[in-house]
Amino acid sequence: MLIKPVKKALFPVAGLGTRFLPATKAIPKEMLPIVDKPLIQYAVEEAREAGIEQFIFITGRGKAVMEDHFDHAVELEQVLRDRDKTEDLQTVLDCSPPAGQLAYARQQNPLGLGHAVWCGRNFIGDEPFAVLSADDLILGKPGCLKQMLDIYNQVGGNVVAVEEVPRKHTGRYGILDIETDDGKIAKAKGLVEKPDPAVAPSTLSIIGRYILQPDIFNILGEHKKGVGGEIQLTDAMAAMIGTTDFHGTRFEGRRFDCGGRLGFIEANIAFALSRADLREGVLKIIKDYA
Ligand code: UTP
Repeated sequence: MLIKPVKKALFPVAGLGTRFLPATKAIPKEMLPIVDKPLIQYAVEEAREAGIEQFIFITGRGKAVMEDHFDHAVELEQVLRDRDKTEDLQTVLDCSPPAGQLAYARQQNPLGLGHAVWCGRNFIGDEPFAVLSADDLILGKPGCLKQMLDIYNQVGGNVVAVEEVPRKHTGRYGILDIETDDGKIAKAKGLVEKPDPAVAPSTLSIIGRYILQPDIFNILGEHKKGVGGEIQLTDAMAAMIGTTDFHGTRFEGRRFDCGGRLGFIEANIAFALSRADLREGVLKIIKDYA
């Protein structure tokens, strides 16, 4: 089996972020900071660490600030240079991938994650690619996508990151119908989007990291609506099972659902505690409030 390398990644960032209103009325959810870095930057850094060379953002109205974030900030850089703020200058410069590696496509209407991915088809062409959902933030070493690519390079096909969830929560996720499972990698014979706990085929849920074969664009191009009236990525992946192998890989690390308030707050605490410069101060604050 020929396993083609993955060099491109899609970042769907066109969602409305309704769970985070009013913060997301004028600011993209993906620009909300965890400690001092926006969510989208963590996702881009995870992709860069995994060897991704092309970064394709699927944006929408009100999301243009992300283009500025990954561009040069000429005035700011000059001021930092003039003031000899070398460390801050480096932090600002480190935000941008090298010139020519970023592209932006618009999803004019937020019709669902599957539709957002389909909007990137002309940038991907006939290659396997990664999809990273910035609101699923993962604290892991190496990063989650790097771990997934190590597995993908052995098994090929479609690979997603998975984790166990309590059965009562299966209705929030895409869930694997498992054929075989060695405790690290599960081969799926089916997928169900947001199943009721009573009928969920397992409790192994898909989180926002995917490695996909380009054939998925043919299926997404049919624009079939699924749960919630949205064009679901899970449904398209499920339709490929039988012709394309599908594996879920458990990753090492901790995932935070930063699309919701509690997950976002937890991520801020966890990331702050993982930093030597903040740990002590944050522990003191938590103790004071406990
Ligand atoms: P979510 O399911 O979290 O949806 O999308 P959302 O609209 O961002 O947030 P809520 O549920 O209203 O609070 C997961 C990822 O897919 C992107 C989002 O931007 C997010 O990064 N997405 C979702 C799109 O790009 N387009 C869509 O049509 C839907």
